[in-house]
Amino acid sequence: MRPRIYIETHGCQMNEADSETIARRAERAGYDIAERFDEASVVVLNTCTVRDNAEQRAYGRINHWKSLKLADPSVKVVVAGCLAEQDRDRMLVLAPHVDAIFGTKELSRLGDALAAWRDGFVDEEYDEHVEARALLAPVGGRPDGLPDAYGALRAFVNVQRGCSYYCTFCIVPHVRGRFDHRPIGEVVAEVRGRIASGAREITLVGQTVNAWREPATGADFADLLEVVASIDGLERLTFVTSHPKDFTEKLARTMGAIPSINPRMHLPFQSASNPVLRRMNRKYTIEEYRDKLAMIDAYVPNCALTTDIVVAFPGESEDDFEKTVAFCAERRFAQAYMFIYSPRRGTPASHWEQIPASVGGERLRRLAAVVDAGVSAYHAHKVGSTVRVLVHGPSRRDAQRLSGKTVDNVTAAFASDENPKAPDIARPWADVRVDAAHVWGISGTLLRRAATYDAAGEAVAPPVIDLIAVS
Ligand code: SAH
Ligand code: F3S
Repeated sequence: MRPRIYIETHGCQMNEADSETIARRAERAGYDIAERFDEASVVVLNTCTVRDNAEQRAYGRINHWKSLKLADPSVKVVVAGCLAEQDRDRMLVLAPHVDAIFGTKELSRLGDALAAWRDGFVDEEYDEHVEARALLAPVGGRPDGLPDAYGALRAFVNVQRGCSYYCTFCIVPHVRGRFDHRPIGEVVAEVRGRIASGAREITLVGQTVNAWREPATGADFADLLEVVASIDGLERLTFVTSHPKDFTEKLARTMGAIPSINPRMHLPFQSASNPVLRRMNRKYTIEEYRDKLAMIDAYVPNCALTTDIVVAFPGESEDDFEKTVAFCAERRFAQAYMFIYSPRRGTPASHWEQIPASVGGERLRRLAAVVDAGVSAYHAHKVGSTVRVLVHGPSRRDAQRLSGKTVDNVTAAFASDENPKAPDIARPWADVRVDAAHVWGISGTLLRRAATYDAAGEAVAPPVIDLIAVS
């Protein structure tokens, strides 16, 4: 048996991308990916520290893993990501059972450690089988893991590290550093590699992805999209997260002109009150934000618009907050991620007078009611239509159902046509008739499956359960 590694990811798409890098590096170093932490020789927690609850959750998990170490002292517990960067010294004291801590810029050192530990986990039988198994490993799949067969269909590709904008609430520039844009050649090479490994949809990720610039050529993010979209074999292209300040008409035009770019835009506005935006150091007014939305509406009709909002930021008055509620009622976002302001060590706003937690909780509830109504309406609009979905795998709640996402990033659930042990990843696109809308997404009936996004669908066999009922 090859030793196994379990990687748990908290936080944003940057961490997803970093975890994928760790997984690929681990596989090359001779590990298989474990589905559960209690079956692994190495457990990695890729942490987030953007809000206090993320930090608490990470420490909870790290403490929980102490039991692994007690049961088998050879198990290695590794902490990576933003909390590792921020809390290295404190973590050594609070969690002495942790074997190694790697900050956000130390992924290659983590890879080296995995390679070094690898030999300690090997049993005698391993060497005879490793070559054969490596040769047999399905392209894009995990060497041993059917459950992950769908995972390789989507790839997160980093185009930028860090952020230089220093919003006064945000810890990201402090733990990930200033902008470090990846050269276009590297991005293209990684996208090609991921497509060769089975990726159908590429998500370009960065904290402020549309601020990407290549210093050598002066190319901007719209240029990058154009180059990536032209790569052979790419079916769908999308990106997160964009900053309103850097949203240009050229970007909207490019999105509208290239059919493989998903019609979705995540554009956090945070607050609809200008004084609050100024204190947040967001570098735009709500009027300017509206202008950007008008560009999207003009060039990308039916674009799913999603956003982030912070409530109870220091100094937010009832009137400021009402502006945010009114804006959400007017605009009806396809999704909005809402947060109560959480003071982060070392950021300017953490030193300002804070709004009581009870007020924050109440504002969040009031805003969520308005946002949810908009989200439900967005989903309800799809009832009766047929949508094409990239299947992500069996639904977590019900293994008889598959779940996937539409190109505008709405979750869809439907009865499965496949044997869970033999996933049909050669036909990962599903045409689903939408029967019902929910706050979380849509549910419906699977009509056809297709090998590529642009291919005509092929009718599916009726679900296995129906056949049994008939016979
Ligand atoms: N540009 C980044 C933003 C990172 S944080 C991105 O990739 O999404 C994601 C969201 O968390 C922010 O848009 C903001 O709405 C919220 N957030 C960040 N710091 C916060 C804090 N201290 N308290 C509450 N919410 C916060
Ligand atoms: Fe954070 Fe603002 Fe950058 S939210 S990631 S400092 S744009």
